[in-house]
Amino acid sequence: MDNISIMKEYTDILAIETSCDETAAAVVRNGREILSNVIYTQIALHTEYGGVVPEIASRKHIEKINPVVRKALDDAGKTLDEIDAVAVTYGPGLVGPLLVGVSEAKAIAWAAGKPLVGVNHIEGHIAANYIAHPDLEPPYLGLIVSGGHTHLVIVEDYAQFEILGRTVDDAAGEVFDKVARAIGLGYPGGPKIDKVSREGNADAITFPKAKVNGAEYDFSFSGLKSCVLNYLNTAKMAGEEVPQADLAASFQKAVVDVLCDHMLHACHETGFRRAALAGGVASNSTLRAEMERRCAAEGVSLFVPPPILCTDNAAMIGAAAYYEFKAGHISGWDLNADPRLGLGQR
Ligand code: KG4
Ligand code: ZN
Repeated sequence: MDNISIMKEYTDILAIETSCDETAAAVVRNGREILSNVIYTQIALHTEYGGVVPEIASRKHIEKINPVVRKALDDAGKTLDEIDAVAVTYGPGLVGPLLVGVSEAKAIAWAAGKPLVGVNHIEGHIAANYIAHPDLEPPYLGLIVSGGHTHLVIVEDYAQFEILGRTVDDAAGEVFDKVARAIGLGYPGGPKIDKVSREGNADAITFPKAKVNGAEYDFSFSGLKSCVLNYLNTAKMAGEEVPQADLAASFQKAVVDVLCDHMLHACHETGFRRAALAGGVASNSTLRAEMERRCAAEGVSLFVPPPILCTDNAAMIGAAAYYEFKAGHISGWDLNADPRLGLGQR
């Protein structure tokens, strides 16, 4: 065999994600192909507290990270020797949980003599689309809707973004979680509202679609949250029963309508004919259906990852890491958790 035929034609990255309440590891080839994707979700552990307790999350990550990484390598049929780089989410997120992943990745990369690649969690969410849609390449419009972030962006290149708009208060996922708690559905709010809404009438209650003065692409969800709380209090004081499913469906419609309005308006103004959704809220069934319907009506191609790649996972971190790695962005051994890392920052 000559040298050319034995040259490796692919890059396999071991990726680690621990920014919130999922302990995850994956092996991803060339940023596009999942060789393994292991997610240990802590949801059950945090349910009784009504949300993620950072200290409990950190302790669980410490307990689970080694077996999760081991399983990711085993499922991929890879040894550490065969891995080309070790990637890890270093922000944004909860500082304790982030530190567990960063320490683990540093230790593995140093011991195995592999490069370390720090990845921005929000960029990871966008990169989930590269796995789901192997032909998708920048530029295109992106809407990232997660528990901590709501960003409407132009994805100019794999790690280059122009932010058109963002939330000025609560993130989309955050308002799902808060409203779910208020109407008695509990944690995790998004999936529960999604489910119960299927039984409800989305036109039963009209909630306002908030606009942010002077910033056509920004979002504001705290007013909507207050309207839901006012509705609940008024019903309670009048001794009326609250129609939970109608309330959930009407609230969800208000959020979905605003997200779709902004995305379609941005497509219209910028001329982009390709748009992608990302983040935990992108697994919402009504958002997926409504965005697809409205994009199709306007001749815009919509890209959405499957739900398992919308919520937190390490495969998306491996996808984003591939493009960082190819661009020569290798992290130093002083890589630290950055809980407030912004989109496009490094
Ligand atoms: O991306 P993600 O897993 O974690 C963050 O980076 O924040 O997003 C979690 C958020 C939570 O607020 C959760 O309620 C929301 O995504 N979410 C949903 C759905 N599934 C998860 N929101 C609405 N509908 C869903 N089906
Ligand atoms: Zn996330």
